[in-house]
Amino acid sequence: MTSLLITGAATADGTRGDLYVVDGVFRDPADAGAGVERIDADGLLALPGLVDLHTHLREPGREDAETVDSGTRAAARGGFTCVHAMANTDPVTDTAEAAEYVAALGERDGHCQVVAVGAVTKGLGGEELAELGLMAASKARVRLFSDDGRCVSDSLLMRRALTYVKPFGGLIAQHSQDPRLAGPGACCHESEISGRLGLTGWPSQAESVIVARDVQLAELTDSRLHVCHVSTAESLDVIRWAKRRGIKVTAEATPHHLFLDTPLVEGFDTTFKVNPPLRTSEHLEALREALADGTVDTVGTDHAPHARQDKDHPFDIALPGMLGLEQALAVVMEVMINPGRMDWPTLVDRMSTTPARLGQVAGQGRPIAVGEPANLVLVDPAARAAVDRDASASRSRNNPYHGRDLPDPVVATLWRGDVTYRR
Ligand code: NCD
Ligand code: ZN
Repeated sequence: MTSLLITGAATADGTRGDLYVVDGVFRDPADAGAGVERIDADGLLALPGLVDLHTHLREPGREDAETVDSGTRAAARGGFTCVHAMANTDPVTDTAEAAEYVAALGERDGHCQVVAVGAVTKGLGGEELAELGLMAASKARVRLFSDDGRCVSDSLLMRRALTYVKPFGGLIAQHSQDPRLAGPGACCHESEISGRLGLTGWPSQAESVIVARDVQLAELTDSRLHVCHVSTAESLDVIRWAKRRGIKVTAEATPHHLFLDTPLVEGFDTTFKVNPPLRTSEHLEALREALADGTVDTVGTDHAPHARQDKDHPFDIALPGMLGLEQALAVVMEVMINPGRMDWPTLVDRMSTTPARLGQVAGQGRPIAVGEPANLVLVDPAARAAVDRDASASRSRNNPYHGRDLPDPVVATLWRGDVTYRR
C-alpha cells in the first residue's frame, strides 16, 4: 500500500487543508499514521491533474521527435495527468488495432494517462471514412476523432462523420483550414507582415469559413463538433452565434495563440512556424476574452514536437508546430490569472474538468475530494524562471518560450497517486 500525506495545500476555491493519498485515491487525512511519507505544500495550490485534448506524441513513426515516454514525461512536468494522442502518426491511428496499440504504449510507457484519438478518414486522406465505430468499440474506447494536421474539407464527408459518431457519443475535432484559401505554402498570418516578408499568407477567413460550415453541419446532424486550436476573432464570432443557437460546438485555444503574435516570425525563426499561424494582437485579445467568458471551452496544447532536421529549412518549407505541454499552465497564468482576467476555479474548468468531460475520460477532471482518484498538480503561484529549452523532457527543442521569464508553477504531479514529477 503506497500512501502519502500532502500538508497545507489550498484548493482552487481557497480551502486549505491536508490531502491523504492511499493506493491512488484521496482518503480522510485523519487516518494518516505518524510515519507516513509527507510533502509540505504550505503556500501551494492543489489542482486536479490537467487534461489535454490535443497532444502529438509522434509514436509510432517519429520516435526521433518524441515518444510516449518522453512526451508524457513532458506532460507530467507540465502538470498533466492525461493527454489525448493525436492520430497523425505513422502509421495513422485509423483502425481499432492502431488505437489499441497507442493505448497499450500509454499503459506501458506513460507518465500520465494516454487516450488514443482516432482519425476521421483513412490515412488522413480526406476521402474515405476510417473505422470510427470499430475504434469506438475497441479496448481503446476512442471517443475523439480528428484528422488534425489536415482539415476534413469535403462537406459531405464531414456530414457523414458527424452523423456516424452520434449514436456512440463521439466528438469530431476539426483542424479548420480551408485548403484553397490556405494551401500547403501558407505559413504566416495574412497581414502587412506576410506581405513585407514575402511569406504566403494564411488569412483568418481560411479558418472561420470552415468553422461556419461545420457548425451548420453540426446543427444539421444534431451531432457534436470540437474546433481545434481556434485562432481568430472571426471564428469566435461564429462560435458565439452557434452556441446561442444551441448548436453542440466546443472550442479549444492553444497557449501559443493566447500569448505569441505574428511579429515573432520576422526573424524567420522556424520555431514560430505553426498551423494555424501566430495571429496579431487583436486576435490574441479576442481569444483571451473568449477563454474567460467560456466561448472557448478548453485550453489544448497542440504540443507538436519536431526534429531539428524538419525545422532547419527555409520558413516556407519547415514543418509547422511547437512544443506546448511544459509551459501551458505557465502561459495561461501569465495571460489570464496574473492580470486578473480569470480565477483559479475557471482555469481548472478550462484545463481539467471540461477537457476530461469532452474526452469522456473517467477518473480525470474530478474534484479533489475523499474517494476521488488522486490525479493532482501542486502549483506554486509565485515562482518564476527563464524557460530553458534544453531542460525539457521532450525529445524536441522547438520551444517557442525559450529564454522568456514566465511563471514556473509545477512543483509536483501525481497520477493515480504516484508522483510522476517532482521538482
Ligand atoms: C501539428 C503537427 O505538427 O502535427 N502542427 C501544427 O502546426 N499545429 C498538426 C496540427 O496540430 O495541426
Ligand atoms: Zn491542427
